[in-house]
Amino acid sequence: MIKKYVYGNPIPTNAVVADIEPSEGGIQYLTELEMGGKIIFNYSMENDDIVYGLGEAARGLNKRGGIYHGFCTDVPDQTEDKQALYGAHNFIVVTGMISVGFFVDCASDVKFDIGYTAYNMLNIELTCPDFVIYVIEGKSAYDIVKQFREMIGRSYIAPRWAFGYQQSRWSYMNEDEVRKVVKNHRDNGISLDAVYLDIDYMDGYKDFTVSEERFPDFPGFVREMRDQGIRLVPIIDAGVKIEPGYDIYEEGRQYQLFCKKGDGTDFVAAVWPGRTHFPDFMNSGARMWFGSKYKLLTDMGIEGFWNDMNEPAMFFTEDGVKEFKDYVDSFDFNTNDPGKFFEFKDKILGLSNNMKDYESFYHNMDGRIVRHDQVHNLYGANMTRAAGEAFDQIAPDKRMLLFSRASYIGSHRYGGIWTGDNQSWWSHLLMNIKMMPSLNMCGYLYSGADLGGFGCNCTSDLLMRWLGFGIFTPLMRNHSALGTRKQECYNFGDPEDFRSIISIRYSLIPYLYSEYMKACLNNDMMFKPLSFEYPSDSFARIVEDQLLVGESIMIAPVYEQNAIGRYVYLPEDMLLVVFKSSSVRRYQIMKKGMHFVQAAVNEVPVFVRRNKLLPLCRTAQCTDKLDTSMFEIIAFTDDNIEYMMYEDDGVSKDYDNPDNYVSFAIKDMDGILGAVSPKTIVKLSLF
Ligand code: GLC
Repeated sequence: MIKKYVYGNPIPTNAVVADIEPSEGGIQYLTELEMGGKIIFNYSMENDDIVYGLGEAARGLNKRGGIYHGFCTDVPDQTEDKQALYGAHNFIVVTGMISVGFFVDCASDVKFDIGYTAYNMLNIELTCPDFVIYVIEGKSAYDIVKQFREMIGRSYIAPRWAFGYQQSRWSYMNEDEVRKVVKNHRDNGISLDAVYLDIDYMDGYKDFTVSEERFPDFPGFVREMRDQGIRLVPIIDAGVKIEPGYDIYEEGRQYQLFCKKGDGTDFVAAVWPGRTHFPDFMNSGARMWFGSKYKLLTDMGIEGFWNDMNEPAMFFTEDGVKEFKDYVDSFDFNTNDPGKFFEFKDKILGLSNNMKDYESFYHNMDGRIVRHDQVHNLYGANMTRAAGEAFDQIAPDKRMLLFSRASYIGSHRYGGIWTGDNQSWWSHLLMNIKMMPSLNMCGYLYSGADLGGFGCNCTSDLLMRWLGFGIFTPLMRNHSALGTRKQECYNFGDPEDFRSIISIRYSLIPYLYSEYMKACLNNDMMFKPLSFEYPSDSFARIVEDQLLVGESIMIAPVYEQNAIGRYVYLPEDMLLVVFKSSSVRRYQIMKKGMHFVQAAVNEVPVFVRRNKLLPLCRTAQCTDKLDTSMFEIIAFTDDNIEYMMYEDDGVSKDYDNPDNYVSFAIKDMDGILGAVSPKTIVKLSLF
């Protein structure tokens, strides 16, 4: 049951696809008050209520105890106290004796104080008077999430090759560097499906150009890589370089497709290319125009992109610097007031992504002129939309890989997201684990973090443990920043263990892809908190570092340095499978309850649920080479069971064809349980 409450004259956000009539009368569950120009909604929580949601946000799965902002923010320093990250996903579910969900559909800042100021008070604060709140009632948190997901529409569906292992770095500088990365993976037997091209593939950081010096025959190079089973995935930045003669800049200027300042001139900000203009993604014409440019690269054989810097991130603006210069000129360095020096430092740090700059430019939303801060959260989302809608024109029958850094609910229909600039910290591995179900709640299914961490120098054990979790996330990409230690697996001593861990991913791809597709097609989650499946188990309810991945397995990743294993809570009897590689495993049936499970740094523990079945195929060097005619089955049952595996060609869009399901069954055959499937079963491990 969903109720919609409209306040003021909201700007359409494109978040919701369901046609819901606005409700009359006062809002339910929330107490509304106005204070100091703000609208505040209060909800009083019970002592043991849990609050789920908020998608890309710091802290736990249970968001209680913190303050969060739905405001897309460029934040490379993602410490635990950060209140806003790159995405703004304003959906929460409060669950306890009763469960209720709230989606605050607002394109500008929304503050959630979830029991931070007062433990039992949930406080939602808006400064913009124009927004919509959806109140969702349901029998459980999971039920509410499913209703919400249906309301916001089917998630973007990635091609199956994007489930392969992907290697990235800022930057592989030229063809030869890319060739070496591929060769090193192949020579070391480490499977690989894609290599990313960060900003240096471009000519002077100009979107939709390719440096002829670094990539002299780009289409030929794309083909050469493709022949080796590798897709190249270039980055596209939001900012368009200001350079007379550069066609995209010239067109944008000529047809008025850039964001404008109050005086009607094109807004200028400094980003990677230097002085840039921002395309006005809030304008449908600008979206069509920018989107059409992706064809320049798809015509060269490119099948996937990552959209970046689209919060939009700004190093500084000229206006901001001028104001700062005046401040410096009038600054009294002999002052005895230490507060002035704090202020000075804050002014320097505040030059980037400054709120005043966000308040200084405008969008033309097809005739409606809107100041940026009022629609800030929609900017990156509409860049994703521009690309997604363009792909439907460029290649209507083919899936393209697309994911973005900034996002707002609604963009989940056009692309996935990655979680931005994390660091090579153990705590960020844990954050990645806890964020995955929250992202799924908000519709982001094709997602993942920079494995190994983007900033800082990664260590061998951290990368291995992170991959031990990353083998389950749809986007499995190792990415690292300029100036950090080389983070490709083969740079860490003996590559054997890395080869083995990545081989596990490839043998799991049919299962993971199947669970991902079913989650997309049914508006469901691929990563679930235990509480969603075991709601009456009071301990399962509070476990945060174990996740259900699809219908058959639970994972309990090890995320601590030097750990030899970890405590795991089993909400029912399960079969522990410790993978050392795709084919080397040890098994143990474990009883419901708490256990210490040993898992060396090169081992991945997986728990098969009772009466469930896990199909595995043989590993391969890339997804194109996966042989899905033969399977090994691991099942934990003494009964007849069936697993329906979703399988299609992985690129076309015939999603709802009933022929896309293959059955794997364990059946009683003359008193003995055996496996039955149209696929060849090479081995059955039945427990
Ligand atoms: C941003 C992105 C990062 C990329 C870098 C250079 O920081 O988040 O992934 O490598 O820009 O393009």
